[in-house]
Amino acid sequence: MNGTAEDFWDSFYRGRAQVWSGRPNQSLVREAGRLVPGSALDLGCGEGADAIWLAQQGWTVTAIDISAVALARAAAHAGELGVAGLISWQQHDLADWTPAASYDLLSAQFLHSPVEFAREAVLRTAAGAVAPGGTLLVVGHASFPPWSRHPAPALPRPAELAAPLGLAADLWQLEAVESPGREATGPDGQRAVLTDSVLAARRLSGRGSRTRKPGRDGCCSGARQRHPSRPGCPGGPVPVRRCPGPPAA
Ligand SMILES: C[S@@+](CC[C@H](N)C(=O)[O-])C[C@H]1O[C@@H](n2cnc3c(N)ncnc32)[C@H](O)[C@@H]1O
Repeated sequence: MNGTAEDFWDSFYRGRAQVWSGRPNQSLVREAGRLVPGSALDLGCGEGADAIWLAQQGWTVTAIDISAVALARAAAHAGELGVAGLISWQQHDLADWTPAASYDLLSAQFLHSPVEFAREAVLRTAAGAVAPGGTLLVVGHASFPPWSRHPAPALPRPAELAAPLGLAADLWQLEAVESPGREATGPDGQRAVLTDSVLAARRLSGRGSRTRKPGRDGCCSGARQRHPSRPGCPGGPVPVRRCPGPPAA
């Protein structure tokens, strides 16, 4: 474990009784809300709002962070909300970590650090843990919050991330490459519109892919409905309708 990074983040979390809002990240809700729940990995889970939300939607979650202080808060909150049994909280330095399993959803939300951190290498390793048909969701800052006291790290645009993460076009389908704006409130109540960077990619498999839930109109962007990481998943592949393309301009 990297003592410097661990000390930095523990001290960061000790500085306030609660650092983050307690609400799940909007891009996670939007992207994961379209998926059939299965197994999820949350990298840099912080105080656990995303992992808890995923568990509430029916996902089985492994949530990793370097800070024991953040993880203790997250675990306590999950217990209060009755989802402790669905989440495994694990303390790791992602710089030294290699995944031991594969997951239907791998989510990295604002995995930035002012302490030396090989973010792209960590995300590239993590991408290897996405099950065939599963989704990789990487959300970060496209512009740094004006209230941040830390020096802004390099902030690649979402389209610039696909190559360094090794998302080869024949193995991955890019599902969202976006820079949405979002209203946010800083730690002292400051308001700002921040721009995020969202990359969602589905790992293709030869036998069809994990699916998205049917949309309100009954359409689904996935090709099949199944749980690729669950051995013996009942139901097997179920063809679903493809959405028609957008109207011609
Ligand atoms: C900006 S916070 C985001 C927290 C959470 N994902 C969210 O969106 O609220 C970054 C998180 O990454 C964690 N982190 C930073 N470096 C890490 C490392 N090397 N290994 C594991 N976690 C790390 C920090 O402890 C912190 O909780």
